[in-house]
Amino acid sequence: MVKEIGGYFELSGFYNSVYHDNAIALNTARNCLIYIIRSKKIKKIYIPYYLCDSVNKASSYCEIEYYAISNNFLPAFEKKLEKNEYIYIVNYFGILSNSTIIQLREKYKNIIIDNVQAFFQKPVKDIDTIYSCRKFFGVPDGAYLYTNNILKEELDEDYSKDRFKHIFGRTEKNAEDYYSDYRDNEQLLEKLPIRKMSKSTRLILSGIDYEKVKQIRTENFKYLNNELKQINNLKLENIEGAYTYPLYLDDARHIREILIKNKIYVPILWPNVIEENKDTLAYNYAVNILPLPCDQRYGYSEMQKIVDIVNKEK
Ligand SMILES: Cc1ncc(COP(=O)(O)O)c(C=O)c1O
Repeated sequence: MVKEIGGYFELSGFYNSVYHDNAIALNTARNCLIYIIRSKKIKKIYIPYYLCDSVNKASSYCEIEYYAISNNFLPAFEKKLEKNEYIYIVNYFGILSNSTIIQLREKYKNIIIDNVQAFFQKPVKDIDTIYSCRKFFGVPDGAYLYTNNILKEELDEDYSKDRFKHIFGRTEKNAEDYYSDYRDNEQLLEKLPIRKMSKSTRLILSGIDYEKVKQIRTENFKYLNNELKQINNLKLENIEGAYTYPLYLDDARHIREILIKNKIYVPILWPNVIEENKDTLAYNYAVNILPLPCDQRYGYSEMQKIVDIVNKEK
């Protein structure tokens, strides 16, 4: 095709790093896992009960068995893995440090790290590590994968130009009006084959001031932790560039409702864990951890509002 030169402008002019410049850029985190399963010819993978169901997609490519985690978010798993077996370890809320991850590799040998909730945590060398972009930024898709095993097949590029309605909708109006478009997009992602990250998503991701975002998230998290650590059943260190602030209460249902009434959106991580109810701790975490927003859109006044509501209702 002859290259077009001149004429009207497309979205352009963002020249920053994308933070994970050396990773393989794909369309979704679940497809990063499938990429690893296929490139390493994995036969069986152990996945935690406490996780969203999108990762189940891997069951079309290899055998899956579920495992429980313990109350420090580490696998309660003592089985010795065979050569073609891997354990999928989720870095919940970015709580696992890289030195813990190294110890986990020593223990299990074959590990895959899910850093979907820890975008800013760089991977440990030679450990397959997965990230998802839309949990931290206003993009409809996009994921990063660090692995030494390259899939020997040419991947098509994804197209996501028609998936931005809820993103730009929320920019110009509000989340409520575009919630069904957001849901539709989430459903659409379920069906996507493995593709390279789209140009639109990549471009938006190269317009972000990552250090600034990381700093705001770190400060918001620190503030919430200072104010809420007495009532939090989780004892948390400060987390750099945190995903959310996980507030674990004996019973979080009432406060979740009040927060939502005040338009403070706290998702349930994850509804399928509650529906399936296969593991008591996972069920408890899903019902009683409130992932409080602490991201780059907010500062002191929003954090204070959240703290005031939580303290009033507690
Ligand atoms: C911890 C975790 N890992 C993986 C995924 C899958 O990410 P994606 O939707 O980009 O495939 C999710 C999605 O919610 C998640 O929460």
